[in-house]
Amino acid sequence: MDDLEGLLGAGAYGYFAGGAGDELTLRANETSWSQVKLAPRVLVDVGARDLSVELLGRRRAHPLVVAPMAYQRHAHEDAERGTAQAAAATGSTFVLSSQTTTAPRDVAEVAGPDRWFQLYVFKDRQVSLDLVAEARESGYEALVLTVDFPVAGWRERDKRTGFSITHPIALNPGGTPLTTEQIFAMHDPTLTWDDVHAFAEAAGMPLLLKGILRPDDAERAVDVGAAGVIVSNHGGRQLDTVLTGAEALPPVVDAVAGRAAVLVDGGIRRGWDVAKALCLGADAALVGRPVLWGLARGGRAGAQAVLEQLVAELDSTLALLGCPRAVDLDLSFLA
Ligand SMILES: Cc1cc2nc3c(=O)[nH]c(=O)nc-3n(C[C@H](O)[C@H](O)[C@H](O)COP(=O)(O)O)c2cc1C
Repeated sequence: MDDLEGLLGAGAYGYFAGGAGDELTLRANETSWSQVKLAPRVLVDVGARDLSVELLGRRRAHPLVVAPMAYQRHAHEDAERGTAQAAAATGSTFVLSSQTTTAPRDVAEVAGPDRWFQLYVFKDRQVSLDLVAEARESGYEALVLTVDFPVAGWRERDKRTGFSITHPIALNPGGTPLTTEQIFAMHDPTLTWDDVHAFAEAAGMPLLLKGILRPDDAERAVDVGAAGVIVSNHGGRQLDTVLTGAEALPPVVDAVAGRAAVLVDGGIRRGWDVAKALCLGADAALVGRPVLWGLARGGRAGAQAVLEQLVAELDSTLALLGCPRAVDLDLSFLA
């Protein structure tokens, strides 16, 4: 990854690659998927494979979702439009970050129909509500409310490099450089369950809560009418030493008990990791940094190549696992 640091510069690279604290959770995210062991079934007809899954009432080509990631123009000039095009070309669901460096309506022009909008709630609630209105008008299908960011994680890499955002974003249309600390200070730490309703209503579209790690919070999400929960520790960027997505997923799946969709992310690097997530009960899996690295190296085509490989790896996993349909993955395929 050293070449990526050279390509992007220490500031942007550190922001994209980094995690909170000692980055123990950042590393554990990948390790915990590798510790889940697959148990293949042999002599199954896997001549025809079906990767499709149903999510929010719609059939998707496969369960891969591109995670919302901020400031993509710092990775490549293709930025969020490039990632959205890569997602559309590979049948992946795309989630646009509210910290986007391309306006949601401009991304919508080139994105596929499977596009969701991620929201942070800022102290100036109107900024968030305006973003929701633009997302609704631009045909985003669902709102992903990120709930694990009352304040920013303890990110020492950003402190060291002094990375600042130089591209225009919704919070800072003029594009005057802002440090990540200045932007993080705009997040509203007073957000509670009582506020979720207001955003669900403003959204007028299905709501998913992202950043759930506890089964009791998952229950509450279902109680407030969420269409889905995303089990996530924010890619190890918020609180260091929290449990990983792979660890948190099974109790959340039990608590939700089919009443809402359950998605998971953090450290998913291979198609077989996606398969493991489905075995553990997830309906879909989000992938973050690998797509960003693809974008950084090759723009839209680079992001697309990463997604194509992940889909091909998932297809290969279904064949080698003796489970030709992704929807049939379950605990029986784990050791
Ligand atoms: C550079 C970067 C920026 C991110 N920005 C956001 C964001 O704006 N909103 C959000 O909900 N999550 C954000 N995340 C978290 C991702 O959506 C996702 O939870 C995480 O990256 C998944 O882990 P992975 O990168 O190991 O695949 C960001 C992650 C990274 C790496």
